[in-house]
Amino acid sequence: MSQPLSQRLQSVRGMNDILPPEAEHWARLEAAVIACLEAYGYKPIRLPIVEPTPLFTRAIGEVTDIVEKEMYSFVDSLNGEELTLRPEGTAGCARAVIQHGLANQSTQRLYYLGPMFRHERPQKGRYRQFHQIGAEVFGLAGPDVDAELILLTRRLWRDLGLVGMRLQLNSLGQPEERARHRADLIAYLEGFAASLDEDARRRLQSNPLRILDSKNPQVREICAGAPRLLEYLGAESLAHFAGVQRILRDAGVEFDINPRLVRGLDYYNRGVFEWVTDKLGAQGTVCAGGRYDGLVAQLGGKPTPACGFALGVERLMALCAAQDGMAAPSPPEVYLAHQGEAAGRLAFRVAEMLRDTGVKTLLHCGGGGFKAQMKKADGAGAAFAVIIGDDEASSDEVQLKSLREATTGQRRVRVDALPGLIHEHFFNDTARKEDKHGGI
Ligand code: HAM
Repeated sequence: MSQPLSQRLQSVRGMNDILPPEAEHWARLEAAVIACLEAYGYKPIRLPIVEPTPLFTRAIGEVTDIVEKEMYSFVDSLNGEELTLRPEGTAGCARAVIQHGLANQSTQRLYYLGPMFRHERPQKGRYRQFHQIGAEVFGLAGPDVDAELILLTRRLWRDLGLVGMRLQLNSLGQPEERARHRADLIAYLEGFAASLDEDARRRLQSNPLRILDSKNPQVREICAGAPRLLEYLGAESLAHFAGVQRILRDAGVEFDINPRLVRGLDYYNRGVFEWVTDKLGAQGTVCAGGRYDGLVAQLGGKPTPACGFALGVERLMALCAAQDGMAAPSPPEVYLAHQGEAAGRLAFRVAEMLRDTGVKTLLHCGGGGFKAQMKKADGAGAAFAVIIGDDEASSDEVQLKSLREATTGQRRVRVDALPGLIHEHFFNDTARKEDKHGGI
């Protein structure tokens, strides 16, 4: 149904605009995460937002919340193809690795970032368009790389100044081990069928492991006595899980083993993990991942061990804000005020020249007198005003005025001397460079 013309158009429910200055914080957060990923040798990959629907049904699993009820799927009206807005990044990344034979050449450590789409009920920390930064490793089977991913995230929390993140680990074993556990789990839960809720009864035959993750207190109580998957693990899975834990202990990473951690996507095997916080209310999982050794083969590629994680940018942003982990957005260094035709022309030249030397410059646009322009310079938080009238322009000069120092004086200086003066006299260059790259 089309909206009446008089009605104002709004963004889609659960899909939010990220406005300034928040968007500036986002950019800095993303830069900090990317710096950390690159320090561990991860390389960027850019993937499509729209993928064929069968990619997700096959990868994530038919009987998962995502595939059953959360995907934005549609039929391409031009060719009848079934398409879906990606609900996550792992499946598309594995598809790209197979399609381009990336894992045939060497181990791949990849990262991506961007919007994901899930038709969930929106609430604080849960959106229909949200953003993930994900890392995926293809071609390594040992516990070392599982642990490396966790150490990387631990370093990131430190870089961002975040405290109180708890790490939860579990092992989902191999498919054969899960099959034995599954049979026993179904038999156990069938004994309580009358007391299970509708969701659990529906999952009983199709995806009983997910029942362990139920939020219903009565179902949780029943699950407390259920057979534990960890007890079904064979020697190799146990050794892998022990290996991950040993590296984490050596590195001083604290963790809890949570047998209820089953994840909402079916592609996992062996180690899975989540970083959780109690500072974000109900949506406390900030980062989650694990191993998915079967996925590449399942999607038609050569068997390739793999593991990875994705963090939720909205949740990480909220956590940074809650913990004051964000510096104020950086204001312009120079506000360039000008009045008069010759002054306007010189102003453009001076602004470009300052930017050439790395000075963040806001050029006044829109005319008006100097008084109003100086108010704007103050409001923008600039450190300096460069003021040009036609008189200054006629002698290729400008007025330079510090806006942060108590002295109200200003100096008339030659245009070609301006960048040097700003750098030498007003900025401590080293401190400024550090300021630009440190923190978020
Ligand atoms: P996931 O647990 O579905 O895993 O999502 C990862 C993270 O994305 C969550 O921990 C959360 O921070 C964020 N997230 C998920 N849904 C929403 C939402 N509706 N609104 C806001 N944030 C959300 C995956 O997506 C896997 N692909 C992770 C992975 C990568 N496993 C291996 N490699």
